[in-house]
Amino acid sequence: MNNNVTKDMVCKQMEKNQPLIARDPYRLHYHLMPSVGLLNDPNGFVFFKGKYHIFYQWNPFAVEHGVKCWGHSISKDLIHWQEVPVALLPDQWYDQNGCYSGSAVVYQNQLYVFYTGNVRDNEGNRQSYQCLAISNDGIHFEKKGPIIQVPDGYTAHFRDPKVFYMNEAWWMVLGAQTEAKNGEVVLYRSADLWNWTFAGTLTGNGHQGLDHFGYMWECPDLFQLGNKDILLVCPQGIPAQGFQYQNIYQSGYFAGEIEKKTMSFEHDAFVELDRGFDFYAPQTMQDQEGRRILIGWMGNAEEGSSQLPTANYGWVHALTVPRQLDWKDGTLLQYPVEEFQQLLENEVRFNEVVLNAQQLLSLCVDKAFAVYLTVEDMKQSCLNIQIAGSQIIYDSLLKVFTFKRKSFTSYQTMESRHCKLDTLSDILILKDTSSIEIFLNQGEEVFTSRVFDDKNEESVLFTADGEIKLDVKKWDVRRVM
Ligand code: FRU
Repeated sequence: MNNNVTKDMVCKQMEKNQPLIARDPYRLHYHLMPSVGLLNDPNGFVFFKGKYHIFYQWNPFAVEHGVKCWGHSISKDLIHWQEVPVALLPDQWYDQNGCYSGSAVVYQNQLYVFYTGNVRDNEGNRQSYQCLAISNDGIHFEKKGPIIQVPDGYTAHFRDPKVFYMNEAWWMVLGAQTEAKNGEVVLYRSADLWNWTFAGTLTGNGHQGLDHFGYMWECPDLFQLGNKDILLVCPQGIPAQGFQYQNIYQSGYFAGEIEKKTMSFEHDAFVELDRGFDFYAPQTMQDQEGRRILIGWMGNAEEGSSQLPTANYGWVHALTVPRQLDWKDGTLLQYPVEEFQQLLENEVRFNEVVLNAQQLLSLCVDKAFAVYLTVEDMKQSCLNIQIAGSQIIYDSLLKVFTFKRKSFTSYQTMESRHCKLDTLSDILILKDTSSIEIFLNQGEEVFTSRVFDDKNEESVLFTADGEIKLDVKKWDVRRVM
C-alpha cells in the first residue's frame, strides 16, 4: 500500500512552489493549470449542488508522469475557478500506483466518482480496477473500492470509466485493449451504480470497417448531440497520414446512431477533434441548460515534459477553455462557452480593413488577448497572421489552413500543423501567455497549442498577398488565475 502520499504532503508541495510560480512569465491568465507538478486529463466534469466541478490527473511531486492524484477545482460560471483540496490520493492497495482517469455523476443527491485504480506488482506487471468513491459535499470522498475487474479477453490496459444515464439505465464506457492488442470501447450496464454487467464492445478494431485502428483506446465519452450519438475516444498507435494524426496519440470522435435495444453503434469514420499540437483526453458534461460542454487536456503524452519552459517554475500542462459542442449540418462545432465573453475587455474594432501587398494591419497586444476576424472578401490569396513567434496562414488557393510555432526544444526550428479548409469565414484566436486556441468558421476546426515566446514579442501582424477585406476585433482578456 502506498501510505507515502498524504494530503499534507500535497499541501507542502503547493506551498513550496508558490514563490517560483509568482515569478513565472508563462503562467496562464485564464486557463486551469496545476499549482505545482504535472497535470493531464480532465476527470469527473460535473455540475453538483450549484457548482461545476472539474477534477484532473495530477502528479504534485514532479513535472513528469508518476503517481497520479485527482486534483480538484470548482466554479459557479466555468470561468472563475477555485482550487479545493486534492480529491483522491493513491493510498489503497487497488489504486496505489495512481488514481487514473474517470468521471462523475450525481445520484440521490450524492456525487459518485468512477476512476481506474492503477497497480503495478513487484514484477512491474500492471493491474487495473474500476473503482467507486462517493461524496456528500463534493469535496470529501469516501472510497468504496473496486466495482469492476478486467474481463476475459482484455489486457490490463482497461481504464477511464465514463458513466452516463440513458434509456432508464446507467451505462459506462471504458477504454480497452484486447488480448490481440487492438483498441476498443467496451460497455457496462448498471441499475444502481454499484453492480455492473459487461454489455459487449461498442466499437473497435474489426468493427465498422476499422482495421488496425490503434493498439489501445483511452478516455472514451458517449453522448447525444442534436440527432447524433457521438463517441469521443483517444486511440493510440495510429500512424500519421497526410495532415492527419500528427500527434503522438489522437483525440477524435465517431458520429452515428446507437440502436437503443441492442446498443449496437453504426458510425461514420473517425474525425480528429483538434488539429493543434497540444490536445488530448477531453471530457464532456451536460449542464443544467442542456449544453454539452467539453474541456480537454492542453497537452499530449509526448516524452520530455520536464523540458517544457514552465518546468523551471515547477509545473507543466493546463486545461483548455471550456467549449460548447454543437452538431450542425453534419459537423461537430466547438466554441468557447458564452460565459467566456465576461473576460473580454477594452474592445478595439477595425472595420473593412483591406490587406494587400502594400497594406498591413498591426495590433498592439498584451500577454492575454482575443482576436475575432470575419472575412468580408478574399479571392485567391494568402492570409498571414504573425503572433509573436507563431504564424497562422490560410491559403485560399490550396484551401489549406496552417499553424506554425517555434519548437520548445530548439527555438530556431518552426513546426507546423495543417488542415484542409474549403472556405474561411471567421477566426477566433484566444491567446494566453503561453497558449493559443484557434477556432475556425465558428468552431468547425480547432487548433490548440502551447507556445513559448520571448517575453518582449507581443504584437499581431496581419499581412496578405492578394487582396483581402476583413473586420477585426481585439480584446484584452482579464486575468482570473
Ligand atoms: C490519458 C491517460 C489515461 C489514464 C491517465 C493516467 O492521458 O493515459 O488513459 O487514465 O492518462 O494519468
